[in-house]
Amino acid sequence: MKGRFITFEGPDGSGKTTQIKLAEQYLKQKGFEVLTTFEPGGTGIGKKIRAILLDKSNLEMTDKTETLLFLASRAQLTEKIIKPALKSHQMVLCDRFFDSTIAYQGIARGLGAQRMLDFSLWATGGLVPDLTFVFHMKPGIGLERKSRQGRPKDRLESQEDDFMQKVCQGYREVAERFKERIVSIDGEKDIQAVFAIIRDKINGLIG
Ligand code: TYD
Repeated sequence: MKGRFITFEGPDGSGKTTQIKLAEQYLKQKGFEVLTTFEPGGTGIGKKIRAILLDKSNLEMTDKTETLLFLASRAQLTEKIIKPALKSHQMVLCDRFFDSTIAYQGIARGLGAQRMLDFSLWATGGLVPDLTFVFHMKPGIGLERKSRQGRPKDRLESQEDDFMQKVCQGYREVAERFKERIVSIDGEKDIQAVFAIIRDKINGLIG
């Protein structure tokens, strides 16, 4: 069987990272080789780009610069890590991919959803996930969860309050638009209930 590409999306603090770990364990138990990665980052160059993007002192960063940096990180990750893994029949799990750019830059920043999709497809040579889980939650809850973990806010988490509201709305629009690929998850449900849904959908994909 050829490799499959599964992405996990949602506003900050929506619980997707916990679910990726559970999905990875599950697939490994089933005997699959699994590569788990994340955006922005996942490569040496990507980690440097990530540091620029999240650095709170980069207050002067324009929305276009921000977009191009996310795309640069994605181009590198796709070419160097994701495509080779898929070619060698691995299951690839990725924490965020182009739906993040559509929700954050396209919709929340107002740069245009279709344009962000087109740019992203150019950056990745047309790679589209086989399956995407979008974790939805009420604005505010995700960042509250994160602040309870005691980590200082990064540049994107420090945006004005209504930014996260727009991101949440952005993800609803994305889920509506790409119904055939996206499974919507209630990020406020408990971990095991959410994982039961994810496991069923993954089983549907791997047959
Ligand atoms: P990260 O700490 O990885 O967030 P999380 O743990 O919630 O996934 O930080 C990544 C931040 O970058 C997050 O606020 C979402 C944002 N982002 C975009 O704005 N556009 C993108 O294309 C991507 C991949 C991430």
